[in-house]
Amino acid sequence: MSTIDKVLARIDADLDQSLDRLFDLLKIKSISTDPAYKADCAEAAAWLAKELTSIGIEASVRETKGHPMVVGHRKSGKPGPHVLFYGHYDVQPVDPLELWNQDPFEPTIVTRADGTKMIVARGSADDKGQLMTFVEAARAFIAETGDLPVDVSVLFEGEEESGSPSLRPFLKANHDELACDLALVCDTGMWDAETPAISVMLRGMVGDEIIVKAASRDLHSGMYGGAAQNPNHIIANIIAGLHDEDGRITLPGFYDGVIEVPAEVTAMWEKLGFSAEAFLGEIGLKYPRGEKGRLPLEHIWTRPTCEVNGMWGGYQGAGSKTVIPAEAHAKFTFRLVGDQDPVKVQEAFRAYVRSKVPADCTVDFIAKEGSPALRLDFDHPALKKGEKALTDEWGKTAALVGCGGSIPIVGDFKRMLDMDSLLIGFGLDDDCIHSPNEKYNLTSFHKGIRSWARVLEELAKD
Ligand code: BES
Ligand code: MN
Ligand code: MN
Repeated sequence: MSTIDKVLARIDADLDQSLDRLFDLLKIKSISTDPAYKADCAEAAAWLAKELTSIGIEASVRETKGHPMVVGHRKSGKPGPHVLFYGHYDVQPVDPLELWNQDPFEPTIVTRADGTKMIVARGSADDKGQLMTFVEAARAFIAETGDLPVDVSVLFEGEEESGSPSLRPFLKANHDELACDLALVCDTGMWDAETPAISVMLRGMVGDEIIVKAASRDLHSGMYGGAAQNPNHIIANIIAGLHDEDGRITLPGFYDGVIEVPAEVTAMWEKLGFSAEAFLGEIGLKYPRGEKGRLPLEHIWTRPTCEVNGMWGGYQGAGSKTVIPAEAHAKFTFRLVGDQDPVKVQEAFRAYVRSKVPADCTVDFIAKEGSPALRLDFDHPALKKGEKALTDEWGKTAALVGCGGSIPIVGDFKRMLDMDSLLIGFGLDDDCIHSPNEKYNLTSFHKGIRSWARVLEELAKD
């Protein structure tokens, strides 16, 4: 039996134990945005450091101003690339809790009507189940062969879901320890349940929150209505002006740096046979929104967006209250593509907002640090190896896809550590990440582990 076949056989034989370990991690309530779960985040970090060390990847918990990082190494100067595997142990909040069919932190295996077995728990797909695919592959490799085929470092963070505020300072302070030849990231999806994928484009993001204030207190809307400014209306006006009738974003200079995808890439994507009906149908919708004249795949992969993620102001309780609120709020995020500059987008947004706020009113901004979009060259040597490994495992050619979501760190890997990222993940559109009843298919977990074993093996080859 070849080495890789032995490693794969061990992965198959150990699957139940691998699941037990994943369940232990899923039980930890590592919600990074909510300070109430700070100790849980620390517990998840400690659990991972212990786990890595026990399999032979010497790891430690590293404190930051926020939640801790976990860093591990197993390197001996082997030929081939030294890779840094990245994942995040933090998860999104679980609300609305009443929509879960179970406790989000009591993982269970659920069998769907079509026979699909799924691991249901918060973080199962984003990102604990995914990061454990790599850990389990490394475990099997070391247990079976005594070593990993290439030098490996590991970085797990606990603030991805809250914008990774501690990450830049950490990368800066630990540059030499973390700068490897290539980052491996398991936090994206497959093309469909049978077809593996490598994400060669990832959208960037920049966000802003605005608070518009008018009168010095909430007012009676009869007594002052018509004379006093209403911040809700001002924010509505701001939002309404952000898109034109063709769905394009109106901010001056916004499309600077947006790159048209080469025709051969679009042609490759056309062959994937994307169905907008199925994509939207699964979430109860029918008609694609977004820029006119663009395909839905472009809407989610290659075009920038502006979304209002939240807006509030005035009376929200039962019944009515005739009030003009003193202030109103809205949260915005822009998804970025190509070479769009997050700083310039934010400046253009703020200038536009200020121009829409009447005299007598004020606007305050709460910034979120941005990250630019990322692309991997189509002739990157690691891409070929990743494709080969995935195609061997899944029996279907790996698709090279875009990813609409964002992983802030990968931009920093490139800019700060001059390191490209190979984005391979096993999530599916119906995994409900960030939503109630998040799940990860058992097949994603099992074949995900096998895939990483094959990727490591391929990377070691010349
Ligand atoms: N794993 C996701 C990114 C993702 C989303 C990949 C969808 C593939 C498909 C990641 O954990 C995430 O949620 N990122 C946030 C970043 C934000 C909180 C800074 C996002 O994209 O909104
Ligand atoms: Mn994630
Ligand atoms: Mn996420």
